[in-house]
Amino acid sequence: RSKRPAGAPDRKLARPVTKAGVVGAGLMAGQLALLFARQLKVPVVMTDIDQERVDKGVAYVHAEVDKLLGKKRISPDAANRTKALVTGSVSKEAFADADFVIEAVFEELNVKKQVFAELEAIVSTECILATNTSSLSVTAMAEGLRHPERLVGFHFFNPVAVMPLLEIVRAPQTDEAVLATAFELAKGLKKTAVLVKDAAAFVVNRILLRLMGEVIAAFDEGTPAEVADDALRPMGLPMSPFTLAAMVGLPVAQHVQESLHAAFGERFPVSHNLQKLIDNGVKTLWVERPDGSRVIPEETLSL
Ligand code: 3HC
Repeated sequence: RSKRPAGAPDRKLARPVTKAGVVGAGLMAGQLALLFARQLKVPVVMTDIDQERVDKGVAYVHAEVDKLLGKKRISPDAANRTKALVTGSVSKEAFADADFVIEAVFEELNVKKQVFAELEAIVSTECILATNTSSLSVTAMAEGLRHPERLVGFHFFNPVAVMPLLEIVRAPQTDEAVLATAFELAKGLKKTAVLVKDAAAFVVNRILLRLMGEVIAAFDEGTPAEVADDALRPMGLPMSPFTLAAMVGLPVAQHVQESLHAAFGERFPVSHNLQKLIDNGVKTLWVERPDGSRVIPEETLSL
């Protein structure tokens, strides 16, 4: 008998999920679509605002499946089945028969609220809605929904295929059957789920941002990025803090900083340099040379 995660409702309350939907076809959305199709073996439909984005999202999933096939991590049969399960559409009508729809759109409260309002007009009353937000309030997102009790936070970590953790965010209005389904889904997805409260940046990002925030602060104070990064490398971190920031995306890192700053004030300062880097379109903080050494690009140096 497997142990029930702390706070998880009785699994008997869980509802079956036979079709999943992902709103958005960007990198996070593609990673989610792949995970759902591969692990749950259910049809997954992705939507986005135009056909080009949708096609790109589906092509990403196919390419990732091909990589797994190349590494013999998946059989040719399973690869074909996984690919066939993932489809795309420019219309949210494609979610009409889905039991679970997760959004992975731009990290802005009003954008997400708009998405959920549109979804409610299409999906069945039984359909569970989930948000992959890193730091926005799930409670605020549920406001205005006809069925706010069906919204739950489902916060994955980058890279989704590899990171085992999933934060399931319970907002005050979240229904027990919705939570029970979320935990059963997590099990099916082979993720370790923890139940967290709807608080600024939940639990993991709050801890992670303390570390990343201090490294970025050292950078703000004039410590070169590669020095701050190299100083932490021997600590045994799987990835250096600046590499991590670049992987999750500087704008995402910035959003998490802002949410934490709004909630906790000076304990979580917002880096002005990070904003400048984003404004200047800087994606990485250095360029790696073939010999492994790194140089800081001009645009970073000129800040
Ligand atoms: N997508 C899919 N698979 C990936 C991947 C990606 N982007 N990156 C790495 N992998 C896979 C590799 O293919 C490899 O799989 P294999 O064993 O089947 O070949 C496996 O992961 C290990 O990769 P590598 O050997 O290349 O490299 P590492 O041993 O350095 O591991 C890592 C890579 C797992 C990404 C590791 O560096 C790590 O754990 N980094 C920290 C990640 C982290 O902290 N994530 C949390 C970010 S915070 C967040 O996401 C929250 C959000 O709200 C901001």
